[in-house]
Amino acid sequence: MTVPVIAIDGPSGSGKGTIARRVAEALGYHLLDSGALYRLTAIAANNNSIALDDKQAVARIASKLNVRFDTHEDGSEGIWLDDVDVTFEVRRESTGAGASTVAAIPEVREALLERQRAFRQAPGLVADGRDMGSHVFTSALLKIFLTASAGERARRRYKQLKDKGMDVSLAALSRDIEDRDRRDSERSVAPLRPAPDARILDSSGKSIETVAQVILDWVAEL
Ligand code: DC
Repeated sequence: MTVPVIAIDGPSGSGKGTIARRVAEALGYHLLDSGALYRLTAIAANNNSIALDDKQAVARIASKLNVRFDTHEDGSEGIWLDDVDVTFEVRRESTGAGASTVAAIPEVREALLERQRAFRQAPGLVADGRDMGSHVFTSALLKIFLTASAGERARRRYKQLKDKGMDVSLAALSRDIEDRDRRDSERSVAPLRPAPDARILDSSGKSIETVAQVILDWVAEL
């Protein structure tokens, strides 16, 4: 029997991460935060003094990432790279910008492909990213493209980062989100675009609970 996958794709700030986690918890499925792998690649490249435009070297780093997704002693989730806790660094805006740059390198995407597919394990997987439905898990049981207006996405991101104690400006975040959307949707390899068979879900003005419930209802109908 093939392991069911629910692919949740969409631009940054659409709420994908939070929604994917809720849906995975409700279904008892595994979770893949594919963006974290691109973020970790950018961090690993920096740690090894590799320029992000050195495509072959960055792809080599991506294929050899030594990552651990685990929990801290207090129960919160964490990410370790070469046994160093990078949980905070992974979420930084500068890491996101680096991730967007390395994500545009076809060899990097290729290097991360099998690693992402390895997350497909029983009883099921909720995968969040940009190309989960269109490339990585084309046979996903359910494909969702989650959107929200650019303004709302910037405001959500602002709140998220502020809550984590980071010093950010809303104007800078809005510019950053627009730049990143443009780069992610205009790149030639795996651009940010809904899979032809994806259901579009606009989360603007909707609570996390409402959006997660819409998805769970769709799953129940399958
Ligand atoms: O979802 P995120 O903000 O963690 O993603 C970071 C960057 O990685 C984002 O600019 C796009 C890229 N990415 C991608 O190209 N493909 C994915 N499946 C996930 C993320």
